[in-house]
Amino acid sequence: MNKYRVAIVGATGLVGQEFIKVLEQRNFPMASILLLASDRSAGKKLFVNHREIEVEETTPESFKKVDIALFSAGAETSRYFSPIAAQSGAVVVDNSSAFRMTPAVPLVVPEVNPEDIKWHKGIIANPNCSTIQIVVALYPLHKVNPIKRIIVDTYQAVSGTGSAAVEELTVQAKQVLEGQTAIPHVYPHQIAFNILPEIDVFLDNGYTKEEWKVVEETRKIMHADDIAISATCVRVPVFTGHSMAIHIEFSQPMSPDEAQRILAQAPGIKLLDDPTISLYPQPWSAAGTDEVFVGRIRRDASHPNGLVMWVVADNLRKGAALNAVQIAEEMIKREWLHPRGGK
Ligand code: A2P
Repeated sequence: MNKYRVAIVGATGLVGQEFIKVLEQRNFPMASILLLASDRSAGKKLFVNHREIEVEETTPESFKKVDIALFSAGAETSRYFSPIAAQSGAVVVDNSSAFRMTPAVPLVVPEVNPEDIKWHKGIIANPNCSTIQIVVALYPLHKVNPIKRIIVDTYQAVSGTGSAAVEELTVQAKQVLEGQTAIPHVYPHQIAFNILPEIDVFLDNGYTKEEWKVVEETRKIMHADDIAISATCVRVPVFTGHSMAIHIEFSQPMSPDEAQRILAQAPGIKLLDDPTISLYPQPWSAAGTDEVFVGRIRRDASHPNGLVMWVVADNLRKGAALNAVQIAEEMIKREWLHPRGGK
């Protein structure tokens, strides 16, 4: 079996840490692992498969002996280093938003559009965390009964913003409980015991960039430019696990039973749907797991062809690190990834 030289860019970050866990847990065939971050972290030590490995500063020379580079160090770092890594011969799976809507870069969720991996030119983009769980849940239904319109409202965990935001929620929760004033640094307002309808910057059309990512990325991944989509993305004081209410209008009516039957057999999905025992997906229980959880499937009372559902997934795993590693695994399975250093 081939083994691959892997690099993680942003290895000290929340998604970077999850990359390490996912690679270990899935026994990814690694010949070597290079842990890269900024100069601030150079010399720091992390464990991979019980071996202590020193973090190195990311430089243009870092990628010379790398087969696959998993990036999660922000869009700016990706914009600079991903093309250099690809030029050096590595295949980049980039978790940032830098290249997602670039026409020449495939944007991939393996349960939906694995064939798109094939036309990459060195960089493959990993979608936005919310988009990933939307398309995993909707694509199996769309194949049977084409979707015309989606309205989605998200409830997104602070870990999606990175480690500074996790720290901010922890500190603020303590401050509020102790009767002190919580001072925001990462978010524009207090996040503890509060919710913020603002994720990423506001655009001229009144939507936020996060909401617009959902619109554009969903269409690109599902190859469905004509689906009408509207999103409201909300930050909630949850550490891990993004939740969302999705209202779907199909071409034809679809019963909740039929949707349940389809989703029960769909890849990457776990149904948790029994209101009689209060069984439905929750971020608390989705954290640390790999599936996209779906529940509360019901008719949309406002439209004859409509369904409503509640969808939850771990934003750091399926929403980021796991999806990226699955892309690499898919390439290996289809023999589209070749180690340059031999077997
Ligand atoms: P570092 O820890 O050295 O700052 P998070 O999303 O959890 O905040 O993590 C961001 C990740 O991106 C960290 O691993 C961080 O490294 C890394 N990073 C930030 N800026 C750069 C950069 N210029 N080059 C390489 N890695 C970077």
